Amino acid sequence: MNSNLEKDKIIIIDFGSQVTKLIARRIREYSVFSDILTIKNLKKKDVFKNVKGIILSGGPSTVTKNSFLKIPKEVFDLNIPILGICYGLQLIVKHFKGKVKANIKKREFGRAILFKSKNSLLIKGFFNKNKCAVWMSHQDSVYKLPKGFSKIASTNESSMTIIENKQRNIYGIQFHPEVTHTENGNIIFKNFIFDICKAKKQWKLESEKTRIIKEIKNTVKKDKVICALSGGVDSSVVALLTHKAIGNNLKCIMVDTGLMRKDEFKFTYQIFRNKYKLNVKIIDASKIYFKKLKNIIDPEKKRKIIGSLFIKIFEKEAKTFKNVKFLAQGTLYPDVIESRSATGSKTSKIKSHHNVGGLPKKMNLKLIEPLKELFKDEVRELGDAIGLVKNISKKHPFPGPGLAIRIVGSITPEKVKILQAADYIFVQQLIKNNLYDKIWQAYAALLPVKTVGVMGDSRTYEYICLIRAVVSEDGMTADYFSFPKNFLDKISNKIINSVRGINRVVYDITSKPPSTIELE
Ligand code: XMP
Repeated sequence: MNSNLEKDKIIIIDFGSQVTKLIARRIREYSVFSDILTIKNLKKKDVFKNVKGIILSGGPSTVTKNSFLKIPKEVFDLNIPILGICYGLQLIVKHFKGKVKANIKKREFGRAILFKSKNSLLIKGFFNKNKCAVWMSHQDSVYKLPKGFSKIASTNESSMTIIENKQRNIYGIQFHPEVTHTENGNIIFKNFIFDICKAKKQWKLESEKTRIIKEIKNTVKKDKVICALSGGVDSSVVALLTHKAIGNNLKCIMVDTGLMRKDEFKFTYQIFRNKYKLNVKIIDASKIYFKKLKNIIDPEKKRKIIGSLFIKIFEKEAKTFKNVKFLAQGTLYPDVIESRSATGSKTSKIKSHHNVGGLPKKMNLKLIEPLKELFKDEVRELGDAIGLVKNISKKHPFPGPGLAIRIVGSITPEKVKILQAADYIFVQQLIKNNLYDKIWQAYAALLPVKTVGVMGDSRTYEYICLIRAVVSEDGMTADYFSFPKNFLDKISNKIINSVRGINRVVYDITSKPPSTIELE
């Protein structure tokens, strides 16, 4: 599945930075296709076909040691423009025989002010009165430029912050233009891809839609496909695209764990059945889920139980469909790039994410992953392009284990009902007050402590409802959302007045890190 080979593209060579993904996003925002590659990927045939520019990402390696991550020397001689970011800059300097030093005293993390020394195509329109706030994260610095390079800008701490070799079309920057904390960072990418690389705008979601549908058709032919439909954006877009390609040879299974938001499963089922006329089967598994989760407190145990039960039910159901050869699932581009490490290191596991996608390994089905080249926001846009209703295409992410990880401690049907009611009020109010689309993810959770309250003249002893709303770009980091005060008052009032079982509402004001987005 790769007609993207034919498009002008910018490749990003990943040295393991946490923010490499964002580079690809920034470029695609300018309608130019971009792909993230590991050093190993560079050996593949045709890898430089239609490549108009190469970006070397940041990363934890250091060129000041004897052994460090590098790319084949020939890449520098391909006559393709190169932009090195952070570690990428240092690698360029090292390759062309300049000097980079580890500077323990002069580390730069966070915001820095950049001063312009000279004009360059790369910085056209970037500076405001020769100054700009940028985001830094480095310890090594360039202290001697290689021959043929000149300095374009510097900060107080690092004198060679932007450099260029105009003749060879090679550029390096020490800061991270891909993060939003860098003012006008996108202008650097715009200049690089259009003025320096001369790339054409050939990345259109509209053409992705046609490409994907055609490819599903060609792959599946007359066979049958199953898909686990949850009603989240990814599985909904996969189901609709596949249905457009092969009609009723697609069967969707919806496993109702009883741990979804209020009315959500019914809504999804009705939309897909009645509006889109898909072949959908709903399985009510809530009783068995509640039974298996009874008295389970440990978050990891909860996740494991939910995940493995899901596989069992899904496998059993899938067997009732004859001649199924494919499983369609909503793997996204970030999932693909996160599963292949640039540096070989594995980050420590914080939570075992259960996702409907990627589950039934033993089923002997071939995978169809139509979204594997797309970012979440591109999937939303694609959803809009294929007529997905806005309440699904704009929906906040919802975790596979559902409300189970938003009820801290043991789970009972009664607690789920209480939480569903509170969460419904919160989300409806966000929508009504035009706040929903400004927030990346918002939900209500139930804390396992009861506290004393007074209602009317009576004492109450009920649960605490925690509400959480975060802004984020990809869920890896997040900040809490600043609500207008009267909105929080309103939410607290509405929840307490209408949900039996809750007598206190608190707002979670932690960012990620140190917290995570979900409570468990
Ligand atoms: P955390 O809590 O790890 O969440 O900061 C980051 C994002 O991932 C979602 N999340 C999950 N998604 N299966 C999923 O499909 C899971 O098990 C799971 N756990 C967390 C979370 O809602 C947030 O968007």
